Amino acid sequence: MVDFELLERDGLARLGRFPTPHGPIETPALLPVVHPDPARQPWSPTELRERLGLRAVITSAYITWRTPPLRATAESTGIHGLLGFDGPVMTDSGAFQQHAYGSVEVGADEILAFQGAIGSDIATALDLFTEPDATHDAAAEALAETERRLRAARAARTALLAAPVQGGRFPDLRYRAAQRASEVADVLAVGGVVPLFERYRFAELARVLAAARPGLTPAAPVHLFGAGHPMVFAFAALFGADLFDSSAYHKFARRGQLMFPEGTIALDSVREPICRCGLCDDAPLDQVARWPAAERERQLALHNLSVSVEEIARVRQAIHDGTLWELVERRATAHPALRVGVEAATDAPDVFLPTEPESRRAFREVGASSVRRPAMVRFRRRLDGFVGGQPTRSLPFRAPLRPEFFDRVPTTDPSGRPILWTVRTPVGDVPWELSDLYPVGPYLGREEFEREAAARAPSELTAALSAEPRLAGAAPQDRDAEWTARQVGALLLWQYGAAIADALAPGLTGERSRRTGRLRRFRRGDAPAFVLGTDGVPRPTFLGGSLLHGACDAGRHRVYVADDAVEFVRSGRSLFSRFVESADPALPPGASALLVDRHDELLAVGRLLLAPSEMGRLRRGVAAWVTAHARRSGSADDEEELHDEVRIPPDGDEPLMRGDP
Ligand code: GUN
Ligand code: ZN
Repeated sequence: MVDFELLERDGLARLGRFPTPHGPIETPALLPVVHPDPARQPWSPTELRERLGLRAVITSAYITWRTPPLRATAESTGIHGLLGFDGPVMTDSGAFQQHAYGSVEVGADEILAFQGAIGSDIATALDLFTEPDATHDAAAEALAETERRLRAARAARTALLAAPVQGGRFPDLRYRAAQRASEVADVLAVGGVVPLFERYRFAELARVLAAARPGLTPAAPVHLFGAGHPMVFAFAALFGADLFDSSAYHKFARRGQLMFPEGTIALDSVREPICRCGLCDDAPLDQVARWPAAERERQLALHNLSVSVEEIARVRQAIHDGTLWELVERRATAHPALRVGVEAATDAPDVFLPTEPESRRAFREVGASSVRRPAMVRFRRRLDGFVGGQPTRSLPFRAPLRPEFFDRVPTTDPSGRPILWTVRTPVGDVPWELSDLYPVGPYLGREEFEREAAARAPSELTAALSAEPRLAGAAPQDRDAEWTARQVGALLLWQYGAAIADALAPGLTGERSRRTGRLRRFRRGDAPAFVLGTDGVPRPTFLGGSLLHGACDAGRHRVYVADDAVEFVRSGRSLFSRFVESADPALPPGASALLVDRHDELLAVGRLLLAPSEMGRLRRGVAAWVTAHARRSGSADDEEELHDEVRIPPDGDEPLMRGDP
């Protein structure tokens, strides 16, 4: 199995890395399709690496095999010799050509052996390409044959093996195909989707990817055959696609078309310098339009790839920033078909929820669909189980609630029963105590910028309060401590459930930022036990971890560390995936967890990079960073000493512009 390492993530999308004999591939990555015949390729792989930084390519082993002179060269100098390239080369088996052109048949064993013989870094098994419109019977029958070939390919493999995932448009088959491929694959390759790309059937693409996803092992990179338009990279990455390939850059260039993340533009129609990429700056597009066909094609191919590379970089940056959903929604404005695709994605929240991070630094509303993101779905589901019964009063969202709030809003009704004050948020009514939590607290939506609404809020607050009879004419009274205690209790209840909240809350005192009024930490005596960031989530220090550990049952909120790693974790080193024995399945990535040894002794508090279902399955890389630990190692430059997370944030560390990460 390939050593795929997950470095950063945003939900299913990941920044990762895996080694090949010709160097590592950093994902997400675009592998341009290059023709094995150098005479038919507008730019050589080496030129593409030098000009655009493309480090790996994909080419057709099948075309090489069936073309005698190419085959002879490949057999004597290897595929790297044929391409004149010393970086990673993935080869495809020809399933698509055989399907599309019905040309020369090659045996599955033969084409796999050929890929090994010519030194391919990633060899693709010969699958049976299944059209999205195939019947269930036909798709199932083809899949059975593909599976048989995959097992044989695994036994015979000499290079990293890309295992295609077929199954047509049928969720049951896609799921099964994903599971079978996961048993043998170094690279999972979702196939049979080119017709969906070509005909902009993005909702179906979303359903195919959603169906396959739970069956795909997290331990292997996921390749998406035929995803080559920069319009779709963010969308595909959202489902966890790590590798993209396509000959689209060249095909579009041949047709005189410029690709952009916003769509496609015909060169003939260009009158203005609409692209100022390095290439179009050097050779203005209105001039390029008059060039001889071959030169024009070369120039457009390079523009198309350059734009694609830039879009992959944006996707990578968005994964780093935790803003991939925003990028996807923005890209979806390019075409209604993509909007329908995003809707299909949000129709399948359960595909995303297992890896949906506990929080992100920001939540920026892009459009009406933003409130359907998985983060919102999870929050709403949890909320449904949280509220109920109490008398409820509603407050306007984002009213200037502090400090007036603490003077004017009573926590109980005249008979002494607690009132649940809710704020009207884009997710619905949320208890005031929880309104700083991600995704509601960092929510940046248009309502905040509608001037009338902002101006209305104080009077709405007054109106809401005057509906409370006891308050009419009552003198302001300082209820800060009362409200703070209540918020501490509510946040612990939200985070850990009733038993733990009841055990911990009485011993903790909340402390607010003087500048913003936001709850900043829970102290026990003078010592910080939980620290809250801009996501509103209380995160335990080592003291808080110890309190939590004492208050909750074994198993819960815990990651069990293998014996070999116990001393490392205790001294503050990251916990690596292969040293995870087990983990509480309810923990999402980004959550704080108790890292314990097999006897349930608390070693450290960690922040999860991996979901529990992924831990142990990835052989390389970090599962959790230690954020607080029992024993300081003493050395200041210890690379794994990531104490930032429990560093007490100074007052006023809010971003300059709300919603900016
Ligand atoms: N290229 C484009 N689609 C496919 C596919 O489904 N399988 C293979 N092997 N190659 C492809
Ligand atoms: Zn350009």
